[in-house]
Amino acid sequence: ETVEWDPEQAGKGEYDHFMLKEIHEQPTALAQALEGRIDPENARISLGDFEPGTFEDVSSVQFVACGTSYHAALYGSLTLKQAGIQSDALLANEYSVSAPPIDEETLVVAVTQSGETADTLNALRHAAAEGATTVTVTNVVGSTAARAADEALFIRAGPEIGVAATKTFSSQAVMLTLLGQRIVEDQFGEPAVDFETFLPELATMPSALDDILVRSDAEAIANRYEDSQSYFFIGRGLGFPVALEGALKFKEITYEHAEGFASGELKHGPLALVTPETPVFAVFTGEEDEKTLKNASEAQTRGAPLVAVCPEGHRAVDVADAHLEIPETVPDLAGLLANVQLQLVSYYAADALDRPIDKPRNLAKSVTVE
Ligand code: G6P
Repeated sequence: ETVEWDPEQAGKGEYDHFMLKEIHEQPTALAQALEGRIDPENARISLGDFEPGTFEDVSSVQFVACGTSYHAALYGSLTLKQAGIQSDALLANEYSVSAPPIDEETLVVAVTQSGETADTLNALRHAAAEGATTVTVTNVVGSTAARAADEALFIRAGPEIGVAATKTFSSQAVMLTLLGQRIVEDQFGEPAVDFETFLPELATMPSALDDILVRSDAEAIANRYEDSQSYFFIGRGLGFPVALEGALKFKEITYEHAEGFASGELKHGPLALVTPETPVFAVFTGEEDEKTLKNASEAQTRGAPLVAVCPEGHRAVDVADAHLEIPETVPDLAGLLANVQLQLVSYYAADALDRPIDKPRNLAKSVTVE
């Protein structure tokens, strides 16, 4: 008697897809990323080779990345900008034709899960040739990016098999936030956020993610809006990259049309597309939420169902047609919790459509051509 054993199926464990497994691995992945790197009791971070003072001479920071990693890069860049440091997130494939000026005081951070994306490697090499200091934030030890950059910061998320990146986005964004705080400390003598509140919040992220994974209404909401025409995702500030990532995930695995917008941009064009067939997922992070709610309500007035991603008790819950709950946290982290709810919405929407979730058509996990 023989037993059929499919190694791929075995790797998925109790889950139907690697993507769902990897979404559920996020609490562990984040705990691994943070291990030994944050010290909430003493209000300190420690990033190995990036000792205090490493970034004293940096005058501007450029993040280069593609796809989901670009959204993590946008997230990291925004935290630096908000702290008063000149910083930009740039699409690696546009970098060769539109890089901002680079000199010895420029820090270029290549964000790449695989460490093998050709566009990102080209940008990294271009920056190095121009004299920039280079760092890569990557998941793969020994990857080309890790070897090509001056220094590497590993996100320790573990292997990601699903083509659509999930756990690596969360870990990248958190590591970029920590790297950003080190840069801010080196520049201004103190971090941009109060470590006495921020670091304990960060330490509870894994359990906050667990809460979401156990109680999410994402499947019901995905089913409820299954027959829609387009799916819009909006956010402001740190919610904006999360909206972009929510839409990217949705289009990658459902093959339905989805777009992410800065909340305030809805009224400058996209509102023309809004109908009762275009649900709007609004991410609330605690940054000017009244404005986001106003923008979202304008879409709702045109008939669009509004799905609010926010904590219980938030004003948006009373206004919205549906609610995806996230635990209360600080604005720097709320978007990352919201992102997990949006990952689940995409997953269940794609599952209902019977899409090949782990291997979407025409896409590759890592693109090694320009
Ligand atoms: C491909 C994948 C995306 C990924 C992008 C960047 O397009 O399909 O999911 O975000 O590459 O990959 P990287 O390994 O550089 O993060």
